[in-house]
Amino acid sequence: MLVNLWYVAEWSDKVKDKPVRAKLLGQNFVLFRDSQGKAHCLSDVCIHRGGALSGGWTTERDCVACPYHGWEFDPEGKVQFIPSRGEGGDVPERARIDAYPTEERYGMIWVFMGDLDEADRYPIPPFPEYEDRANWRPIYTEFSWNAEVNRVVENGIDIAHTSFVHPGFGYREMADKNHITKMERTEYSGTSSCVLYPPPLEGGMGLNKFFRKDKAETHVHPSFYLPGHTVRLHIQVNSWMSMIIFDCNTPIDEHTTRSFVVQVRNFFKWGMFDGGSVKRTLKVFQEDADIVEALSPHYLPESLESEVSVEQDKFMGAWRKVRKVHVEEKGWKIDHKAMQPYEGEKIFTIPSPARRRNPELRWALETVPLVPATNAPSGPDNLVSISEG
Ligand code: FES
Ligand SMILES: [Fe+2]
Repeated sequence: MLVNLWYVAEWSDKVKDKPVRAKLLGQNFVLFRDSQGKAHCLSDVCIHRGGALSGGWTTERDCVACPYHGWEFDPEGKVQFIPSRGEGGDVPERARIDAYPTEERYGMIWVFMGDLDEADRYPIPPFPEYEDRANWRPIYTEFSWNAEVNRVVENGIDIAHTSFVHPGFGYREMADKNHITKMERTEYSGTSSCVLYPPPLEGGMGLNKFFRKDKAETHVHPSFYLPGHTVRLHIQVNSWMSMIIFDCNTPIDEHTTRSFVVQVRNFFKWGMFDGGSVKRTLKVFQEDADIVEALSPHYLPESLESEVSVEQDKFMGAWRKVRKVHVEEKGWKIDHKAMQPYEGEKIFTIPSPARRRNPELRWALETVPLVPATNAPSGPDNLVSISEG
């Protein structure tokens, strides 16, 4: 699991007037809204005696109050009021918790899980079609996996599995026809284009099947982004019908992933078709989960040498390369093994920007240990060159 990225913590409409707990990267956070309706995210551990702020309430000072002794924390994580000291009473200097940058986009609350300044953060992935309601209609759904996030992301951009795992996306006997036509990579993302030969489209109350012939050449554009561990799958059903599945894969902990899914379509934009869309999307996720939850080992291997890859796997190779740079050169990977001996005895927190900005501040909690960067160049670019070379 990586720090210093935006992740989706919750759906916007789930956070109303009460604080809500969100778990990400193995830690607990509290989400709440101030009187202007702006969403905020703090560590969910009160530094007085460890109360969970998410069990508290919001106050007139635009703070969240701890349910144990009522200490009030402002959106910057600073204690503003200690009821036992009375109005105007002293607040100890260390009475603060980490506060995380928060944005709302695409019906989701995004939180920045790290200490980088704004200028150094990778952006939240673009999704212009979501804003364009005249041409695209969104549906929202979600899926929970008993699998680690990197396995889930890799599954989302893997084209070779479609013929085997998803009967609605391809035929086994045509597995050799699926191919990647284009692939590009940036420091934090990758885009690709590929061709599949699926059966007619299901749904649309039986109408969709008339719009794409059986085994018609179909163009699909999978992309990935480190922010949100987002996978974007643009499926061009035919020359005028498209759908885009935009799923943000939040690592809840080392073993659990929650996918926040927004799908938009530019055809049959009436509400009567939404239910079927949600149902078919979840069916595809379940088909994937049956396979992904049974993969060995549980974690994506850090070394390519322990697996064998072929040409069709090269876009997954791009994802691994991007990730590897952030593990080995930037040192953003949480060292969960280093925390295990302290289970139940000591709490760690994700570092927030205030720590880097004000090194003189003192804090009650230690930050999560990170796997040190090795600074070694992260090896050959191409998955295939390693396994077949
Ligand atoms: S534990 Fe939070 S106010 Fe005491
Ligand atoms: Fe799949």
